[in-house]
Amino acid sequence: MPKPTPTFVVRIEPAGWEFSAPGDRPIMQAAREAGYLMPASCRNGTCRTCMCKLVSGSVRYTIEWPGISTDESDDGWILPCVSAAESPLVIHVPHARLKSEVDAMLAQSITRQKRF
Ligand code: FES
Repeated sequence: MPKPTPTFVVRIEPAGWEFSAPGDRPIMQAAREAGYLMPASCRNGTCRTCMCKLVSGSVRYTIEWPGISTDESDDGWILPCVSAAESPLVIHVPHARLKSEVDAMLAQSITRQKRF
């Protein structure tokens, strides 16, 4: 019988939002599925748009060569688009947003554009 994938609580600071992240899924993907959006572009570990500080906990990378240096890693920086939780995490992502708020803003913007 296969071993179940462990799931860890991830807290996004400074907002204090929490969600569960399976250990086999990138943190960013788990956050999105839970209703939280993080700054992102490539989502494959190269552009560094998502780079954020790991306040506590540990992660593993889901790709062999993430676009982050050893020094940055040692200073606590991670790329959540290509890293998965190995323990409960606290990450500092000041530009994280609620997906519901972003969706509402987009809907409002589309409604406004249709008026003109
Ligand atoms: S979104 Fe490009 S490195 Fe994470």
